[in-house]
Amino acid sequence: MIAVSTFYLTTPIYYVNSTPHIGHAYTTIAADILVRHHRQRGDDTFFLTGTDEHASKVFRVAEERGLDAKVFVDRIVEENWRPLAPLVGAEPDFFIRTTDDEHKAFVQDFVERLRANGHIYEGTYSGLYCVGHETFISEGELVDGKCPEHGTVPEFIEEQNWFFRLSSFQDALLRLYDERPDFVLPRFRSNEARSLIEAGLEDFSLSRQGQPWGVPIPWNPEQVTWVWVDALINYLSALTYAEPGEDLREEYWPHVRHLIGKDILRLHCVLWPALLLGAGYSVPTQIFVHGYLLLDDRKISKTLGNVIDPLDLIGVYGADAVRFWAARSVSFGQDGSVSLESLHERYERELGNDLGNLLSRTTAMLAKYRDGRVPVADSELAEQAFADLRDRVAGSLDVFDVTGGIDAIWEFVRSLNKYVTDSKPWELAKDEANAPKLDRVLFTLVDGLRAAAVALASYLPETAPSILDALGQPVDLAWDGVARGRAVAAEGIDAAAPLFPRVEAPATAA
Ligand code: MSP
Repeated sequence: MIAVSTFYLTTPIYYVNSTPHIGHAYTTIAADILVRHHRQRGDDTFFLTGTDEHASKVFRVAEERGLDAKVFVDRIVEENWRPLAPLVGAEPDFFIRTTDDEHKAFVQDFVERLRANGHIYEGTYSGLYCVGHETFISEGELVDGKCPEHGTVPEFIEEQNWFFRLSSFQDALLRLYDERPDFVLPRFRSNEARSLIEAGLEDFSLSRQGQPWGVPIPWNPEQVTWVWVDALINYLSALTYAEPGEDLREEYWPHVRHLIGKDILRLHCVLWPALLLGAGYSVPTQIFVHGYLLLDDRKISKTLGNVIDPLDLIGVYGADAVRFWAARSVSFGQDGSVSLESLHERYERELGNDLGNLLSRTTAMLAKYRDGRVPVADSELAEQAFADLRDRVAGSLDVFDVTGGIDAIWEFVRSLNKYVTDSKPWELAKDEANAPKLDRVLFTLVDGLRAAAVALASYLPETAPSILDALGQPVDLAWDGVARGRAVAAEGIDAAAPLFPRVEAPATAA
């Protein structure tokens, strides 16, 4: 297990020209699970999310509606994007907006540094630009003259721009990938990034002309910084003003880890480290690239019109159930298909039966057989079972294996269910002579559920404390609580209300 003591994690910053769908919620949920877990381990954590607002589309749409672009984005951010994290039960430490004045000033300082270090020159750009991607696109990538992902005809652009000498970073980047095999995870993504670098890097235009929306190039304010450069810098700029009056760069930058989707691999794994090196900053500690959630085998996205609205799902199943489903349904890092049916099924079978019923049965037996007391006895589970749980969850999350972590917890939950079935407490209760054995069984269940709740707390932040509460246990989520025999005596336990009450199957499930 890697001993991490400072953990700074970022999500991509989301484009404001769309509304949040489950694909965006996915990255935020996974990031929150990881950060909460590190908090439980007592690490010094920082969790950043936010919005990417200088896309040229934004300005065009605002103009069409006769609105000032900033007024337009203010509304969208407050209505749609800032609420996303709390909606999915995530607790970021800071929400950055690229229209923040502090961020804009920092971007200017950053590109100034690039220029001072000799990495910028003036040139003419002529070529195609895909507004959907907010990147230049080559003829060879087009299908029937259109961007294959967005189905739109790219714009031809010819303008005088400022260029970044990406080509001169090829050797430095190859060295980085050689020296740090876990710089990009999973490994197949690292290979993908390395091949892009090996194939040769072209300088790119870091500015755009004739656009009033964006961060002006300091020495040539008629041009604005290309939106991707502006956006990537957020990970660093946020640390300079997230805490008023404090600069958190020294504390967190050396420990930064980025969580991204596979569509933005090149920008994060090739361009971003080069920009950082160029400006004199250290490169990130790690970049984890996750796959897509697919619906009907197609990426969930607004452009494709197969959006699943996280609001709808959470309204029905609750944030914890959606987090559980996102973490467990698709092996984190791979692409995987999801459906509303699979959410419903996991909700009933795993959350409702495996976990919810285990708590209901345990508390009902405490109420019935022990007048609501938790007896203190010896656990009948081996310490090894707890040690395995602790190490497997922490070990998985150390390598961003969000799915491996929840799978390990679920095996433990299922082993508790098997333990109830095998030890038949309802039979033991029939004969007073079995009282010490029944005490042990009840204690084993309380203690096992308690440890499971602590292990689950990063995945199910609402449910875990209510499990501890229902069992009369202190709500202490410290990671070392995932151990044998930590349950304490308690009184006044009532049969708990269902953790995951029945809900109607989704209409589309028919
Ligand atoms: N604004 C850029 C990121 C700039 S970061 C310096 C951007 N924004 S985005 O809103 O389009 O996408 C944000 C994240 O959501 C990306 O990591 C993307 O992969 C993720 N997802 C969007 N749809 C997704 C799925 N259907 N499945 C999983 N994640 C996907 O790109």
